[in-house]
Amino acid sequence: MPTLSSRAGRATLALLMLTLSALAIVVASLPTPGRAADPITVLTSDFEDGTSQGWARRGTVEAVENSTAVAHAGSRSLLTSGRTASWNGPSRDLLATVTRGTRYTYSVWARAAAGAGSVQLRMSVERRWQGTANYEQVVNSTTVTDGGWTQLTGGYTLANDADFFAVYVETVSGTASFHLDDFNLSYLPASPIQTDIPSLKTVFANDFPIGAAVGRPQLLAERGQLLAKHFNSVTAGNAMKWDATEPTEGAFTYTDADAIVAFARGNGMKVRGHTFVWHNQTPAWVFNDASGQPMTATAANKTLLLARLEAHIRAVGGRYANDVSAWDVVNEVIDENQSDGLRRSTWYTITGLDYIRTAFRVARQVAPNAKLFINDYNTNVAAKRDKLYNLVAQLKAEGVPIDGVGHQQHGNISWPTGAETDSMIATFLPLGVEQQITEMDTSIYTSSSESFTTPPADRLASQAARYKAWFDVYRKYKANITSVTFWGLADDETWLDSYPVSRKDFPLLFDVQLQAKPAYWAVIGAASPTATGPASPSTSASSSPSPSASRSPSASPSASTSPSPSPSPSASRSPSASPSASASPSPSVSTSPSTGGCRVKYTVTNQWNTGFQGDVVVTNTGSAAVNGWALRWTFANGQVINQSWSSTYAQSGANVTITNAAWNGVIGANGGTASFGFLSSWSGTNATPTTFTLNGATCVLG
Ligand code: XIL
Repeated sequence: MPTLSSRAGRATLALLMLTLSALAIVVASLPTPGRAADPITVLTSDFEDGTSQGWARRGTVEAVENSTAVAHAGSRSLLTSGRTASWNGPSRDLLATVTRGTRYTYSVWARAAAGAGSVQLRMSVERRWQGTANYEQVVNSTTVTDGGWTQLTGGYTLANDADFFAVYVETVSGTASFHLDDFNLSYLPASPIQTDIPSLKTVFANDFPIGAAVGRPQLLAERGQLLAKHFNSVTAGNAMKWDATEPTEGAFTYTDADAIVAFARGNGMKVRGHTFVWHNQTPAWVFNDASGQPMTATAANKTLLLARLEAHIRAVGGRYANDVSAWDVVNEVIDENQSDGLRRSTWYTITGLDYIRTAFRVARQVAPNAKLFINDYNTNVAAKRDKLYNLVAQLKAEGVPIDGVGHQQHGNISWPTGAETDSMIATFLPLGVEQQITEMDTSIYTSSSESFTTPPADRLASQAARYKAWFDVYRKYKANITSVTFWGLADDETWLDSYPVSRKDFPLLFDVQLQAKPAYWAVIGAASPTATGPASPSTSASSSPSPSASRSPSASPSASTSPSPSPSPSASRSPSASPSASASPSPSVSTSPSTGGCRVKYTVTNQWNTGFQGDVVVTNTGSAAVNGWALRWTFANGQVINQSWSSTYAQSGANVTITNAAWNGVIGANGGTASFGFLSSWSGTNATPTTFTLNGATCVLG
């Protein structure tokens, strides 16, 4: 697992102040999603009525009963005693209480029984469907004592089919007795997602696909809407790992992975496969020898382990051969503290480098259309980066089919810097491999001792600056970077809530209620300018299905483009929206007068607080083809175009001239059409222009 280095204090104070003040402007100008709603409680158990309030034993021997020995509040609690196994304990049926797709917060106060000393407890849920049970932890192992009460709190979303669903508390080991009190089950009412903000995938359409790591909860309701709106790539955060797909030898389970792939298919998204080989989340049986004992380094065990590896990749890789476009074939195999740079995992100690060679070879065979990646964390750390470079160089020289290097990019608000990220990418360029950002997130913490229940504004500003610095680098290397994936969808659910310590973290672009954070706006401001029209038919076919795929509104509140604050309402217009922008009308087909009529359909397809996206369809209603065209209109409310696609724009004051791109200059007679789109700033009012002329002739509207 990654060790998240924290390297504060690299920037000069002056630079930091500058960044923070620029971001303060951004934060101040952001749309505010309203006051966070209060949680709604759906169940409490205070045990004050003298009963066990629906809590029952999971086993057959333990006693689960009301107790007056101690109480968190009031005078009673629930005591579990007489346990003979660590899983024995109190359980509460919640099948009729929870709604599928809603994330609930589970909270209970716990205390070891008198004389039991210190005990490790955890809270989990048991879900059954048609006779198969699944167990998932809601609260990790937590120390409780017999001297006081400790709160266990965690979140969980029931996202799968279930005909039984219950929460329970157990000891990690041992059979100590313990008390529970004041259980509370609550949820935050869902906020609708913001539909009027630019989609990340559209904004970065000219750069790279934008992905999110997800589980089944992220496919449902508002989260599913957020995923589909902003992302054109998904990674299964856990569902394609070995413990999920082959928990016992030869018995493959694909329920969750299939659901994620089906969502991706339905929404035209790419799928990154994660991961065939890792030292974590691999079931113990994989590393047991033929007699069921942990493997030692023998030739027979090496053969057995490589055979298991091959069978696993054949099954999982083969199943998704038509769906997964990139596989993390091996994950986290580098240890820069070893002189040869190779992690001493069981994979390595039993097979040497052959597990890597086998994994790539088999993956290529069964998934020939997938790009094959070696994925790791801290690849921005020079020592680790260079060890990874050497390994990839060696394996490529041997002919091992490695297509790319995956950089996890788990970072925090002060690390890694843009410069470190730049050399991370630059280092691998000589190898000619693809590079992908595979697991990016930005913790708001720089040390394990910090903890916030809501993220302070200055941390969110620093986080926005950090993301912006990284994305500036990604854009610079967009020819080499073929995917950028966040490790999660929104702050309501992140692995950093339990890693490296248990505390709430807020590392992503959308907040706990799925609303855009300052980091979102900073990232939007880091996209590439649009191309005017598809670069080539093959490029356009392979990118986003959206014809309006374009770039960021430069009028978005990007830190780097807002040099001077202004309190006036028009301050929200970006200076980069000035008409002097890069527009240079250079139609490659000379214009000719239209010999008939024209019709113009002008649509505002998307509008946010400072900008909007317009799409225009021009129809030639005349009897002769138009060969090269210029469409003109006048804005009434100070709108200023700052980007266009499938066209070239020029603006002088309120007067706009759009000329054709090289490939759409000819509009056929009697109903031929040409289309283009643009991004523009606006403020106050955004009226549709009333008069359009095509090559000087006035068009009808509609
Ligand atoms: C994490 C998942 O997000 C968690 O849900 C799980 O409990 C542990 O693994 N590097 C990786 C990912 O390559 O697979 C890890 O995912 C995060 C670190």
